[in-house]
Amino acid sequence: MVNKGIRQTLFVSLAIMYMPSALSETSVGENIYINNCIVCHAEDGSGAMPGVADLRLNKEWSVLPEQQLVARLKKGINKAGSVVAMPPKGGNPELTDSELQAVVIYMRNVFSK
Ligand code: HEC
Repeated sequence: MVNKGIRQTLFVSLAIMYMPSALSETSVGENIYINNCIVCHAEDGSGAMPGVADLRLNKEWSVLPEQQLVARLKKGINKAGSVVAMPPKGGNPELTDSELQAVVIYMRNVFSK
């Protein structure tokens, strides 16, 4: 007979084991966005401070091929005439190409509707 405590532990470990595969690209991207980008871009992409472009209105970025967008974000963004610049990778040098790709896919899905 398996007692209740062991059964519960088993259930929790199984749930944790299967969790990563249940995370979609969108939720990975969403977490990266919340941790690195939301501070300047706001939850809806409208911009959290004066000078940050409203990414919902300027959709030019959203039609770029992902690789090109990722390359831009790695360099940082400072367009002519902008008051505020974006630091490379939003200021987090640890973000990988695939993480940047996941976050732009998330942003495209959520802001370009
Ligand atoms: C310190 C503030 C700040 C942070 C943090 C930040 N951004 Fe930005 N981002 C900006 C600003 C400012 C612009 C507009 C720059 C300009 O127009 O020159 C911008 C522009 C962009 C654009 C539009 C690019 C284009 O070519 O028009 C994308 C996409 C973007 N950011 C993605 C991200 C992602 C992804 C993150 C998180 C990894 C992030 N940003 C974090 C400030 C920030």
